[in-house]
Amino acid sequence: MNILVTGGAGYIGSHTVIELLKNGHIVTILDNFSNSSPAILDRIMFLTGVTPYLVRADVNDKETLDSIFSTDAFDAVMHFAGVKAVGESTINPLLYYSTNVCGSIALLQVMEKYKVNTFIFSSSATVYGSPSQFPIAETCATNPTNPYGRSKLSVEDLLGDIYAADNTWKIAILRYFNPVGAHESGLIGECPVGIPNNLMPYLSQVAAGIRPEVIVYGSDYPTPDGTGVRDYIHVSDLAIGHLAALEHISSSSHGVYLPMNLGTGRGYSVLEIIQAFEIASGRKIPYRYSNRRPGDIAQSYADVSRSNELLRWVARKDLMDMCSDVWRWQIRNPRGYAQ
Ligand code: UFG
Repeated sequence: MNILVTGGAGYIGSHTVIELLKNGHIVTILDNFSNSSPAILDRIMFLTGVTPYLVRADVNDKETLDSIFSTDAFDAVMHFAGVKAVGESTINPLLYYSTNVCGSIALLQVMEKYKVNTFIFSSSATVYGSPSQFPIAETCATNPTNPYGRSKLSVEDLLGDIYAADNTWKIAILRYFNPVGAHESGLIGECPVGIPNNLMPYLSQVAAGIRPEVIVYGSDYPTPDGTGVRDYIHVSDLAIGHLAALEHISSSSHGVYLPMNLGTGRGYSVLEIIQAFEIASGRKIPYRYSNRRPGDIAQSYADVSRSNELLRWVARKDLMDMCSDVWRWQIRNPRGYAQ
């Protein structure tokens, strides 16, 4: 298939591009490199033997979108482009709505014009907010607690309305739990700008000696060891989940609107992650407890039965794979994609 991948140079997008190319698909990446590097293209080429087409543009740039859709017949769009930091979204909500919501609208308008109606949307478990039921199923209420989550849910709602108006659309909404890990080659990985917000990149920098200690936010949660529990999923499993979703919706004989959790179904605490990373890296990881981080929930883990059954997909990589791959990426690329 001929696929447009917005945000294809980013963390999850790039891993998905690799899987698409490995499976013989034709890929055009649209990316403005606001949180990624053009250097990734050489690495994708090295790993797959194929150079994807690249359009350097913002997803809000309708003129460019129009020109690429007018010259290329895409079969489907995978939409990763967006901003994703929860804390930043509370400080700059307009950025989150203009990028995530307006960007999606611009893209969907052009898709409608050119009659491309197979769409995979990068959503997040953050749309559930503080769920009262575990594991979290797609049928649980959505109630995000921050502008980032609300921007994702707004696009989900918009997609639901588009489908209600025209049920020939084929739409998969993929709600990621906690994506971590890196490509097993050590050539592609997460490259946070500045101080990482998320646990895994932060503790890998502690293991590497770049930061002194991990700060564990909260030791009094109602969890087995008092620290927060999350459903961490290897980014390569997530990427394969996108291919499975694409196959599922594109082979359907009718329209589809399908929200789906992508996770492992198993939760790990912060302390379990630190311990696993110590084993993977062979380094001692100093940590200290601090107060709970505002907005955090005690636990989050997915009910993955829908994606497992419908997509015939299951996350295969375990916690040790996740930690080992992050560590390999960290030590081989101490400055990320910068040479
Ligand atoms: N944590 C620490 N110390 C840190 C960073 C995190 O103790 O330095 C803890 C958090 O309190 C939480 C766990 O580690 O218990 C995971 O935190 P992350 O920041 O790695 O991830 P979150 O679960 O907060 O959020 C992530 C993404 C969101 C996404 C959500 C989906 O950042 O964008 O997963 O579940 F929406």
